[in-house]
Amino acid sequence: MLVSGKEILLDAHKKGYAVGAFNVNNMEIVQAIIEAAKETNSPVILQASQGGLKYAGVEYIAAMAKVAAETAKVPVAIHLDHGTDFVQIMKCIRNGFTSVMIDGSKYPLEENIAITKKVVEIAHAVGVSVEAELGKIGGTEDDITVDERDATFTDPDEAERFVKETGVDYLAIAIGTAHGPYKGEPKLDFDRLKVIKERLNMPIVLHGSSGVPEESIKKSVSLGVNKINIDTDIRMAFNKGVREFVENNPDVYDPRKILGPAREEMKKVIIEKMIMFGSAGRA
Ligand code: G3H
Ligand code: 13P
Ligand code: ZN
Repeated sequence: MLVSGKEILLDAHKKGYAVGAFNVNNMEIVQAIIEAAKETNSPVILQASQGGLKYAGVEYIAAMAKVAAETAKVPVAIHLDHGTDFVQIMKCIRNGFTSVMIDGSKYPLEENIAITKKVVEIAHAVGVSVEAELGKIGGTEDDITVDERDATFTDPDEAERFVKETGVDYLAIAIGTAHGPYKGEPKLDFDRLKVIKERLNMPIVLHGSSGVPEESIKKSVSLGVNKINIDTDIRMAFNKGVREFVENNPDVYDPRKILGPAREEMKKVIIEKMIMFGSAGRA
C-alpha cells in the first residue's frame, strides 16, 4: 500500500516507535526490504539517493518501488534521500515518490530555509511529504562530503525557527552519527535529541544509523527518533552474501544463484532492524 511519508511517520511519532528507511539501488534490495516488511508486518520507507537514481534510473527505481508497495498490505513510502538538486526533486515527485528530502545542510541557515521552503510549497501542493536536514551529519553523503572535523550538531533554537519558517514534515538532526562504517563506537548527544524533540514535537530522523549499537538505537527511539536511515548495513550484507557464495562456488556463473543468497542476507539484517526500531507489528 503506497502512502505518504507523513502518514507513516506521524503514526510513529504519536505511538513512539521508529520506521526504517532503507536505501535501494537495485531490484534485489527492493525485494529484500519488502519481504522483510511483509514478514514482520511493518510499515517501511524505500529510499533512493541521487547516486542510486543515477545508477538505476529514476523511472526504474520508481517502478520497482511502486510494484513493491502495491503488492504489499503494509504501508510503504517512496522517498528521495539527500536531494540537493531541485530538478531531481521535481523528477522524483513526477515519478510518484511520496516523500522527498531537500538537503540544504551545507548552506548557511537563511539559504537552507529558503530552498527548503520552496520545495515544501511545491511538494505539499501535490501531497508529497518533505524531510530537511539541519546541522551537519559527518561522513560522506551523495555529492556532499562533510569532513567529520567540521560536523556540527543541530542547534535547538535554530531547529525551532527552521521548522516554523519552512513547514517541513520531519527533520534530520546531527547528534553524533555519521554515514558509512564507524571506526569506534558512536557517542550520541541524547540530551540534545531530548530537547529538540520536546521543542519541535514532530517526527525526527536519524541518518548514518548503520553500526549504531542496539542500545543507542533504542534510546534514540525512546527519545523521539521516528525515521532511521540504513544503507551501509545492507551493503555489507549484500557483499557478504555475494562473496561467500562466489568463494564457495567458483564455477557458478548464473546471476540468480549469485544474487539470491545476497538477497536473503539483506532480508535477515532488515528484519532485525524492524524489530529493533519497534516498527514490527505496527502495519
Ligand atoms: O546517505 C547516504 C546514503 O548512504 C547514500 O549513499 O550516495 O552512495 O548512494 P550513496
Ligand atoms: P548509513 O549508510 O550509515 O546507514 O547511513 C544511511 C543514511 O543516512 C542514508 O541517508
Ligand atoms: Zn543520510
